[in-house]
Amino acid sequence: MEALAKHGPPTFDHTFLQDPYPVYRHLREAGPVLWREDVFQGAWLLTRHADVELALRDPHFSSQRTAGWIKRVPGIDIDSRGKRVRSGLDTFQRLFGRAMVFLDGADHARLRQAMAAGFHPDLIRGMRPDVERLTDELLSPLEGSASFDFIAAIARPLPSRVMGLLLGIDRKDEERFIAWSDDLATFIGALQPSAEQLLAAQRSLSNMVRYFEALLPSRRREPGADLISRLLQAEAAGTVRADGELVAQCAMLLFAGHETTRNLLGNGLHTLLSHPHQWARLCTDTSALPLALRELLRYDSPVQYTGRRIATELTLHGKTLRRGDLVLAMIGAANRDPARFADPDTFDIGRRDGSHLSFGSGPHVCIGGGLALLEADVVLRAVMRRWPGLRLAGSMRAWNDNAGLRGFANLHVEPA
Ligand code: HEM
Repeated sequence: MEALAKHGPPTFDHTFLQDPYPVYRHLREAGPVLWREDVFQGAWLLTRHADVELALRDPHFSSQRTAGWIKRVPGIDIDSRGKRVRSGLDTFQRLFGRAMVFLDGADHARLRQAMAAGFHPDLIRGMRPDVERLTDELLSPLEGSASFDFIAAIARPLPSRVMGLLLGIDRKDEERFIAWSDDLATFIGALQPSAEQLLAAQRSLSNMVRYFEALLPSRRREPGADLISRLLQAEAAGTVRADGELVAQCAMLLFAGHETTRNLLGNGLHTLLSHPHQWARLCTDTSALPLALRELLRYDSPVQYTGRRIATELTLHGKTLRRGDLVLAMIGAANRDPARFADPDTFDIGRRDGSHLSFGSGPHVCIGGGLALLEADVVLRAVMRRWPGLRLAGSMRAWNDNAGLRGFANLHVEPA
């Protein structure tokens, strides 16, 4: 509190992107419910574990939050920009709004049920040999290198190849998909998105939609065991509506599953190599990996916040949150809340207290968490086996310019 009074409210600047945790501490101490004008042109920030969990689970907080997205972007004056831009942006907003992550109640439950079969734990477990093969394909050429960029070499391509398997998409289209989902992630993860970021996301989303629409007729004729075929069956059965819902779910998977998994791999390896004793401990006893993965997710979450809109007015810690207000549930801050985790800024692979919120909580809890954990498990095991002496290459690393989806643009490491 004192620090805040002296220096004013903490800013979400370059220093924040490097290390957001001191800012979260200030915010948590300044008050549990804070209004910030500099976030999406006005939003409530929740930073305590109990409040973030409440926002993720309680129906006062709606996931239908895409309406008004465009208006909140400075420089996008939809009325003075002419019809073409406006209609394009409206379509963008509408399409996003059909993805289940942005829906509530019955519509959300219906789509979640249609998707769930494609993420059944047995099915995900069955993907292990493929994930191991893809990982080996990426890691083998690195044997003998003096150093390499872990993001370019593995964290970036692997989730995209795994998603390709899940959706039944050709490897040759991988780079396009990564570029499109990067544009969406940049827009979604910005606390104050620019007009440029919005327009890039819009372009990429329409490219994605065109791609999926072109793919559907052949998949209808020759269905496979992939998720798109399952969704087409759900569409035929009436669980998924035939007016673009299917394509919206496919596009959602790409922005929900790529960057997030990439950042779990990158942030996770960075944390481990920054704590060499714990890295060495894990290399000698890999049975500790499942618990360590939980702690990696807590300590430096790939998703730092998610949004909600107030559905019905409520009072929280003495503040009135009105219908329509935007709320940011700050997952990264909740994961470091001392009320929930003893010594929260200490990384400890043996930690057993508390439960992180990195995969969310409640009805929208991450549907792909099992897949992300499988990828992290396979990659870390393979890296530990090949290069137990791995270390960070000096300061050769750069964080992305993304507050919501925290991760590295590059992360150079040295095998020995
Ligand atoms: C480490 C990696 C991942 C992290 C940290 C993560 C995090 C999250 C979080 C926090 C949510 C809740 C969002 C909210 O409540 O607003 C979520 C939902 C979701 N995630 Fe993940 N995710 C990861 C990987 C994946 C993967 C690999 C996929 C798909 C292949 C995926 C698909 C989804 C979907 C579809 C939802 C929406 C669920 C719903 O609305 O019911 N995620 N994820």
